[in-house]
Amino acid sequence: MSEKQNQPSSFSIHEESDVGWDIHTPVNETVDAQGHPFPDKVFFGVPDPRAPKRRAYDDPEVEALRQRLKQNNGIRGLDICEPDQLDQIARIFHRDGFVVVRNLLNAEQLDRFRVGCVQRLQQILNIVGEGERKYVTESYRLPHRYSLGTSSASRELLHDPIWASMVDLPTTTPILEKIFGSLDYRVRGAGGDLCLPGAVEYQHLHSDVEDEQVIPAGRIEQAIASGVDVKLDERGEPDLLSKRLIMEMAPGYITINFLMSDLTWENGPIRQVPGTHITRQLPPTPEQEPEWMRLSTLVGAKAGDGVIRDLRAWHGATPNLSRSIRAMPNVEYVSPWVPETLSRQTMPDEIWQSLTAHGKRICRLVKADPGVWPAGAGEMHPIASSRKALKQQSKLSAKATKQDD
Ligand SMILES: [Fe+2]
Repeated sequence: MSEKQNQPSSFSIHEESDVGWDIHTPVNETVDAQGHPFPDKVFFGVPDPRAPKRRAYDDPEVEALRQRLKQNNGIRGLDICEPDQLDQIARIFHRDGFVVVRNLLNAEQLDRFRVGCVQRLQQILNIVGEGERKYVTESYRLPHRYSLGTSSASRELLHDPIWASMVDLPTTTPILEKIFGSLDYRVRGAGGDLCLPGAVEYQHLHSDVEDEQVIPAGRIEQAIASGVDVKLDERGEPDLLSKRLIMEMAPGYITINFLMSDLTWENGPIRQVPGTHITRQLPPTPEQEPEWMRLSTLVGAKAGDGVIRDLRAWHGATPNLSRSIRAMPNVEYVSPWVPETLSRQTMPDEIWQSLTAHGKRICRLVKADPGVWPAGAGEMHPIASSRKALKQQSKLSAKATKQDD
């Protein structure tokens, strides 16, 4: 694929721009691994039956949706904590399955992360869209929505010094220690997601991980550290109530999404359904989802704030009817009891060497060997088959370099 001349050479990740609102990209159009539209299996590209029919800023259906959102969008009385309110953060996190925390990033870190998001998104938007489309839609997702993790051929952005520099912050580490019950948690990866203006569809509600409902010893320790009073039955095992509390209070996976812009009623604020981190039921389909869940969004969270999410909780992206991109890069963490074998080595050794002592410790299992560049790191492509080819190519060139040495 070649560079498209009419793409903006620079744009803001948080202020108004000309990016997005491509009227030539049909509403609800998803593409398969080869980039073919409207496949049988859609995975994350589940259509939104209530979406406006045209992707146009001034379309009457878009305007009607805008008016509804302006009146109603956002959780009423959303709790927002300061970074040092550790007890309150943990209490709300365990109650709701997510918590918004103010000012996790200072002005310099926010600027740095914004630069990183522009660089990664530029790589994606530079690729020519099919036909008259301005952009390539990511495989198995709704249009104008990109995952920074899955768009990377290594599936993570830990090779990017900007993402790597966010794994151990003075504001986030005490919160993670509080929720995980120790400093023995680890980094799983980093990426995030963003939506362009004109992403008019709701993404379906989903969980990012399924709780396997296992209770290894480390999970009991984590729950006890979070205040669970574990009672044993006659066989010496936690009784039923204790088991339930252990699973509720000791999640395996936590992500921190950092906000690059204020979340407003109009710019695609993430929606989270409180309390759903502990349910084993499936979330409602787009046809079944009640209006109150569609409006259960984190309006009021500001640029530089973070959303700390239990990945089991039901969530989904919402329409971005503004003229600004909404970006939320992230870092993902796992509990000490999650098997170490699930780690992928996507952080180059030289990046790992640049981290703090604690950063090095929590990234030790995602670090590649010295001199080994993780396959696919640095390559971004929304189409799955192109990504696979780029990863393969990078493996071959690494092999050739090794032979030359
Ligand atoms: Fe998700």
